[in-house]
Amino acid sequence: MSDSQAIERAKEHFGKILEQQLERVERLKQHQEWTDYTSAKPIIIGVIGGDGIGPTITAEAQRVLEHLLKEQVEAGKVELRPIEGLTIENRAAKLKAIPDDVLEEIKRCHVTLKGPTHTPEKGDGWPNIESANVAIRKELDLFANIRPVRIPSENVDWTFFRENTEDLYALGSQGINVTDDLAIDFRLITTQGSERIIDAAFAHAQRTGKTKVTIVTKANVVKTTDGKFLEVAGQVSAKYPGISWDGWYIDIMTAKLLDTARRSDFQVLALPNLYGDILTDEAAQIQGGVGTAGSANIGKRYGMFEAIHGSAPRMVQENRAQYADPSSVLRAGAMLLEHIGFTDLGDRLHKALDICGQYERKIVMTGRDTGATSREFGEYIMSTVVDPTVASRWESYVKA
Ligand code: IPM
Ligand code: MG
Repeated sequence: MSDSQAIERAKEHFGKILEQQLERVERLKQHQEWTDYTSAKPIIIGVIGGDGIGPTITAEAQRVLEHLLKEQVEAGKVELRPIEGLTIENRAAKLKAIPDDVLEEIKRCHVTLKGPTHTPEKGDGWPNIESANVAIRKELDLFANIRPVRIPSENVDWTFFRENTEDLYALGSQGINVTDDLAIDFRLITTQGSERIIDAAFAHAQRTGKTKVTIVTKANVVKTTDGKFLEVAGQVSAKYPGISWDGWYIDIMTAKLLDTARRSDFQVLALPNLYGDILTDEAAQIQGGVGTAGSANIGKRYGMFEAIHGSAPRMVQENRAQYADPSSVLRAGAMLLEHIGFTDLGDRLHKALDICGQYERKIVMTGRDTGATSREFGEYIMSTVVDPTVASRWESYVKA
């Protein structure tokens, strides 16, 4: 193919992307109400095991949720429903990020608790299909990826609002090799997409008595897309006179999270998708490892709750899956409980996780046979969460 043919082909590809995205922008402009889960009967919680360490750690979270929701399940107010088929084997066989029947099942649930799923990469032996995470987030329009990280004893209490449907992720499987030598990916940021995530961050700050929102970009270099994100932040902030905001660049932000003299100043952070992916792994490591952090993927209609990490194929290859920390999915479970209206249960579970993972640490996980198994740690959480004195135990640790 000549260069001019290659350019024509790339222009056509780009044109199609622009058409699709302008249609998407029109959809984003339409107002949609938030779903009120409390009026649903039953509230359906889908449970997806996933790949790699997924089924092991998700089983622990499922057991704790089943226990905490026992009365509600018996009263027909809540249903926990297993969803099969979101495995790499099935996705590869169907050559789909989410097989159609699985997507149908997911859409029949109000919310899902999801174990990590393997994300294929060119040359890893699986067909290079789109990430199931990314596809679910886009398909269900789960625009807010909310990732809390807290270390109460160090006064660290961060909530990241990672934009979840745009940026390099949105078209990550639609890049183009213009020629053998020239590869182009596309980064997209929209006004509407930025508004809704930044507004969610400010609203959260207001609701939870926080005073500041930090916007993270690289707007000095990536001028058009990050520039838009930052500009929208200024506009949204006008609606929240009681909340101050500041802008930081992603590089210095990664350094500041390590700065023990400054890091407890940060409260709520809002950022585009890829920066959010990277910064939240770092934040989770500061809290005790990515295995300790959960996330809520929230849209107006659906919610999906998951660990912040992947399926850890290395652990599986080395026969260490049974030593994977279930805290991440348990955290996600606590967020799920809060999201569907069981705030007290969610709070108890968060406190039990703080006690077991950060304070008491009677059972410690190391990710290998030098530490506890997922099951043992799951039992530890279970015995802590059912303790009627869990809240006062937590208080005494935090104040100590
Ligand atoms: C996450 C994960 C995913 C992401 C992967 C598994 C596709 O790292 O949830 O942060 O990049 O979003
Ligand atoms: Mg990540």
